[in-house]
Amino acid sequence: MRALRKVTEGPGLELVDIPEPTPGWGEVKIRVERTGLCGTDLHLYRWDGGAPGSLTPPQTLGHEFCGVIVELGKGLVDENGPDSLQVGQRVSVEGHVVCGRCRNCRAGRGHMCVRSIGIGVNRDGAFADYVVVPASNVWVQPDTIDSELGALFDPFGNAVHTCQQVELTGQDVLITGAGPIGIMCVALAKHSGARHVVITDLNEERLELARSVGADRALVPSKEALAEAMSDLRIREGFDVGLEMSGAPAALQTLVDYCNHGATLALLGLPAGPFAIDWGKVITRMLTIKGVYGREMYDTWYLATFLTETSPALREALRSVITHRFKPDQWEEAFAAAASGHAGKIIIDWEN
Ligand SMILES: NC(=O)c1ccc[n+]([C@@H]2O[C@H](COP(=O)([O-])OP(=O)(O)OC[C@H]3O[C@@H](n4cnc5c(N)ncnc54)[C@H](O)[C@@H]3O)[C@@H](O)[C@H]2O)c1
Ligand SMILES: [Zn+2]
Ligand SMILES: [Zn+2]
Repeated sequence: MRALRKVTEGPGLELVDIPEPTPGWGEVKIRVERTGLCGTDLHLYRWDGGAPGSLTPPQTLGHEFCGVIVELGKGLVDENGPDSLQVGQRVSVEGHVVCGRCRNCRAGRGHMCVRSIGIGVNRDGAFADYVVVPASNVWVQPDTIDSELGALFDPFGNAVHTCQQVELTGQDVLITGAGPIGIMCVALAKHSGARHVVITDLNEERLELARSVGADRALVPSKEALAEAMSDLRIREGFDVGLEMSGAPAALQTLVDYCNHGATLALLGLPAGPFAIDWGKVITRMLTIKGVYGREMYDTWYLATFLTETSPALREALRSVITHRFKPDQWEEAFAAAASGHAGKIIIDWEN
């Protein structure tokens, strides 16, 4: 089968031909249909950020994917129970494999596992025709979710998980960062009945995408004053909710500066390193700051599916973040497009 792999340490990847994997005990084999490319894949490709310490070559990348179950490993029975897995089901996959033994795992909080590892980061992933994953990580999708949407469920789950941390109905929401996940948050906030959603980015193309999914204002802070947008929208005291989706230190300070006293800030964006913010404001304004990682296992998956299967508009908004589709042998173009800063979500199509 084809697999896009890190063959040796250092920058680069290779599309190679390797044997199909065999599912072990409690694992399933999936024929991959679509795989999304994200910032983590770019770091692994370039061998920068935390990449050298996390991945041990040779290994296949790819963690945002959807495909069809083709084989159940030992310990799994192909039966027709309400929650059983069957050959032929279309599935998305939770990319974090948890230990099952730490305190959080045993309390049902797998997303806070202290020893979780990543599919496509610490074990073979889904930039390949086939991938093998633990059955517990498999999420069966309804017919309304096709494989392209299914491949978005990893980042969409990040967006849903972030929105789970805050109240959105009737609220004024400020989002920093209009990458695919920030744009998904705009769509989710509008879907949840937010009063106004304002989003910032440095990139005009991305802001245009944010407007198309319903942002009331989408602006570059250095070009257009946030205070003016607030005044136009009659947001007098500050935003009720802040969602940080960029990882940029300046963006977190923007949330601290423009959110109302008592606001909640949910932070998904991953900064490159430690940085300073105005803690005096955080304290005297009684801001609540919540870090968000991955997707709640597995409640976020229920919410993500339930939200999208009942809303054609949300499905359309979700699909609109996909700006490029490539075949596996065009992987270099796909990574170049991701690095260019001019793309939304990029999808590799393993079926064609
Ligand atoms: N916590 C988690 O589990 C988790 C999971 C996935 C992604 N992430 C992180 O979430 C963030 C969003 O993911 P994505 O795939 O949409 O990322 P992305 O890199 O595609 O988007 C980030 C956006 O932030 C913008 N930006 C940069 N500086 C800014 C500033 N000062 N103000 C406003 N916007 C600014 C960039 O132009 C870019 O459009 C990234 O930081 C990513 O690393 C975290
Ligand atoms: Zn990802
Ligand atoms: Zn654990």
